[in-house]
Amino acid sequence: MHRLAVFASGTGSNFVAIAKACAEGILDAQVAVMVCDKPGAPVIDRARELGIETFVFSPREYASKAAYEAEIVQVLDSKKVELVCLAGYMRIVGDTLLKAYEGKIVNIHPSLLPSFKGAHAVEDAVAYGVKVYGITIHWVNAELDGGRIIAQRAFPYEGSDPAEVHRLGQKIEHELYVETIKKLLCER
Ligand code: GAR
Repeated sequence: MHRLAVFASGTGSNFVAIAKACAEGILDAQVAVMVCDKPGAPVIDRARELGIETFVFSPREYASKAAYEAEIVQVLDSKKVELVCLAGYMRIVGDTLLKAYEGKIVNIHPSLLPSFKGAHAVEDAVAYGVKVYGITIHWVNAELDGGRIIAQRAFPYEGSDPAEVHRLGQKIEHELYVETIKKLLCER
């Protein structure tokens, strides 16, 4: 059985989708740890409800990104994590984590990359008047939302309500992330 880490900062609906797919045997994997940089984020309660171990930290309590990432690496190593899945982890991954888990970190992003990188992808796309939206899963490298694309799925939307785009996109995210992790684990 493969061992995953999921990183999240907020609601954690993608984390829940991945954890449930593991519990239901859709993925031959378990979430060995959920890493969260926001004490008090709803995803922490979701992890506890699902009986999944958490590593919750507050970046401002560390001297640097390198310092908290060194601790994350220790946690991931101790759990023998094979694949790190960023799922709404709203923080740029630094050198310490990238080097330790090179080629083993994937991210889900709510746009058709390389369009609309960054933390406000949906809002930026709506402001631009986009008519075809989408979701991207990509390898994580040093460039923000810049790693090689693994999977993408598009959907049409002609309106101008970012909340509706988020709602439509998240349904796709949950399916696409599980499907993609399954493929990646099969290739290992
Ligand atoms: C997801 O929609 C994900 O695509 C987005 O955060 C949301 C987290 O939702 N990620 C980014 O914007 C990364 N730049 P969730 O906490 O319900 O899984």
